[in-house]
Amino acid sequence: MDECPHTVSTLPTARQPGRPFDPPAELLDARRHGPISRYTFPNGKPGWLLTGYDLIKSVLADSRFSSRKELMLHPTIDYGGIQIPPAPPGEFLLMDDPRHSRYRKPLMGKFTVRRMRLLTERLEQITADHLDAMEKAGPPADLVTAFAKPIPAIMICELLGVPHQERDSFREQVDAFMDAEADDEDVMAAYTTTQYHLAELVAAKRAHPTDDVLSDLTDSDLNDEELKGIALILLAAGLDTTTNMLALGTFALLRNPDQLAALRADPTLADRAVEELLRYLSVGKTFMRTALEDVDLGGRTIKAGSPLILSYNTANRDPERFPDPHVLDLHRQDGGHLAFGHGIHQCLGQQLARVEMRVAFPALLDRFPTLRLAIPAEQVPLRPEIADIHGVKSLPVAWDT
Ligand code: HEM
Repeated sequence: MDECPHTVSTLPTARQPGRPFDPPAELLDARRHGPISRYTFPNGKPGWLLTGYDLIKSVLADSRFSSRKELMLHPTIDYGGIQIPPAPPGEFLLMDDPRHSRYRKPLMGKFTVRRMRLLTERLEQITADHLDAMEKAGPPADLVTAFAKPIPAIMICELLGVPHQERDSFREQVDAFMDAEADDEDVMAAYTTTQYHLAELVAAKRAHPTDDVLSDLTDSDLNDEELKGIALILLAAGLDTTTNMLALGTFALLRNPDQLAALRADPTLADRAVEELLRYLSVGKTFMRTALEDVDLGGRTIKAGSPLILSYNTANRDPERFPDPHVLDLHRQDGGHLAFGHGIHQCLGQQLARVEMRVAFPALLDRFPTLRLAIPAEQVPLRPEIADIHGVKSLPVAWDT
């Protein structure tokens, strides 16, 4: 096989100044050199960085590339010689089939388009309650804490059957164990506490089933340990992602006044707007896979055991797939973004996330016709690039009263 001309030595750590929605310049540069680059992992292991849409999509559909946790290397962390354990029961994002499908299958019917549409009314109510509270408190408000965090959190807690009085503490624990800037010890402590509370929740559902996803699953052949893992993955995968789409999405709309005006003028544009924001923002930036055997890919031989970084955000900005990829265009017709992934791990909660965004964005814009940033755009604090999910730490907004 021929030599790969391009090598990326460290995964970029920052967005370009003034371009908070665009992938880091080094990643875009790598894509310009071709869809695949060499990448050496912090422990010295040679691997690959994939930045092109077609190549990433083909890897996601290919069972020769694994998602198993024990095979994964983090692109920026040197674990030294530590052997990573396999994913605990139920945490199926980091498993291959058939282990993965044992957990995903019983869940699929619970997150269908139809089921999620039935939630619309409830979502409208939750959204309206939060907008009422924002309006009552008056400007300025932090859109993250007032709106983007609580709405997805209430929804996922209701679906899982987390009792009302425990929702805030669940959300805080999940926030704490997903905090990329926190000490390892604090992250572990929050993770252990969440596990403990989920074990209690599972036991409670088994003893007294209620009308929710977790109670339904107690009817399957999954044991308590497995149910706890499923609940954990739903919380971890469903909270940060949707929260950051809502907050960063609002920021992007406010920075693109023509698009904002188009959406205000035509609320039926909401479905398409959500898809375009998903593509444009790609809050889930990179995911990992490991080759299980030698594979020829894009003219290169990927050796068995090689780790791959899949850059979903550059795939969604690939000029060979999306014309004018760096333009936010809510009227864009070419769907097929990879913001929810592709293949067997494609986002289980995508219909829920869609319904949440389709309700929340138009309701927010409708309630505050003069919504604007309360601080200069360049001062909006971004999440650090080491965080798995891109977004803003806070989004101060104001409006005319
Ligand atoms: C998987 C993105 C919301 C649950 C994924 C993957 C992506 C993703 C990219 C695939 C990861 C991979 O390829 O390895 C997003 C985005 C969301 C969102 C951008 C919000 C806008 C949600 C919600 C839930 C959820 C609300 C929960 C109900 C999951 C689960 C998986 C997953 C369980 C693992 C699926 C599997 O391994 O079979 N998500 N997600 N996600 N997501 Fe989401």
